[in-house]
Amino acid sequence: MPHMAMQGLVAALLLILLAGGAEDFRICAFNAQRLTLAKVAKGPVMDTLVQILARCDIMVLQEVVDSSQKTVSLLLREANRFDSSRTYSFLNSSLLGRSTYKEKYVYIYRSDKTQVLNSYQYNDTDDLFAREPFVAQFTLPSKILPSVVLVPLHTTPKDVEKELNALYDVFLDVSQRWQNENVILLGDFNADCASLTKKRLNSLLLRTEAGFHWAISDGEDTTVRASTNCTYDRIVVHGQGCQTLLRAAAPFNFPRSFQLTEEEVEKLCWDKGYTMAKGRIEVS
Ligand SMILES: *[C@@H]1O[C@H](CO)[C@@H](O)[C@H](O)[C@H]1NC(C)=O
Ligand SMILES: *[C@@H]1O[C@H](CO)[C@@H](O)[C@H](O)[C@H]1NC(C)=O
Ligand SMILES: *[C@@H]1O[C@H](CO)[C@@H](O)[C@H](O)[C@H]1NC(C)=O
Repeated sequence: MPHMAMQGLVAALLLILLAGGAEDFRICAFNAQRLTLAKVAKGPVMDTLVQILARCDIMVLQEVVDSSQKTVSLLLREANRFDSSRTYSFLNSSLLGRSTYKEKYVYIYRSDKTQVLNSYQYNDTDDLFAREPFVAQFTLPSKILPSVVLVPLHTTPKDVEKELNALYDVFLDVSQRWQNENVILLGDFNADCASLTKKRLNSLLLRTEAGFHWAISDGEDTTVRASTNCTYDRIVVHGQGCQTLLRAAAPFNFPRSFQLTEEEVEKLCWDKGYTMAKGRIEVS
């Protein structure tokens, strides 16, 4: 809702895992801010999204606002056309949200490199999350780690602390259910600035419990605007296999990489009054 516009533009995040041999495997998270069919149908928006997507083997898209499959289908069609050596497929959640405003999580992945083993919608019985994680397990082209679990979360800014503590319960739930401790929690956590003080951040269970590595560290700017400097988007890695494979994680400032000015990005991504662009993560 309006808080998105107030937060301003955010860069995409990237996490890189070393899969096997010299090959990288990239897992990304990107809050595409109000991704609708009307928005992707704009040529420059589509071009930018396809170029961001091309850097990822698995992309966790957030804020997909579409009750049909049309937005994602169009994006996949263009992505598959962009590079014919790749085959992108997708897995989406249902529309999630407490009000009439709802959004879904969508995994877009290269089916020539990875497969979905399993997925489920976290059973949020106490309604702790505005958009409860849609958890999925993917194969990895790695002998060290044959599969990894992804737990996406886009928090609502007013409940960041509560949701991030509940995310620890999601971790317990999924690691038990699938007997897999190699879990990557990722997305637009709003885990900084006005939404979460340093003190509260440091008292989160995901910080105080052992075994969690915050791959996007505090102080990294995941926002695109020059006037903002907040680490909203995060990647948290758990498990020996995952940590062994983890090579790098960083925000991806796509306007800078694609040489777009702030005005161009805003114009490009403006859609029904909202600006676009949030975190992306690659794991390879
Ligand atoms: C994916 O989205 C479609 C269309 O909105 C929906 O029918 C389907 O149930 C969703 N998938 C899951 C796993 O919720
Ligand atoms: C969710 O949990 C509640 C309470 O434990 C249970 O009653 C309900 O059947 C569960 N729903 C699903 C879909 O598992
Ligand atoms: C953001 O702030 C951190 C300190 O919290 C600083 O180290 C970093 O250089 C700043 N980044 C930008 C892009 O201004």
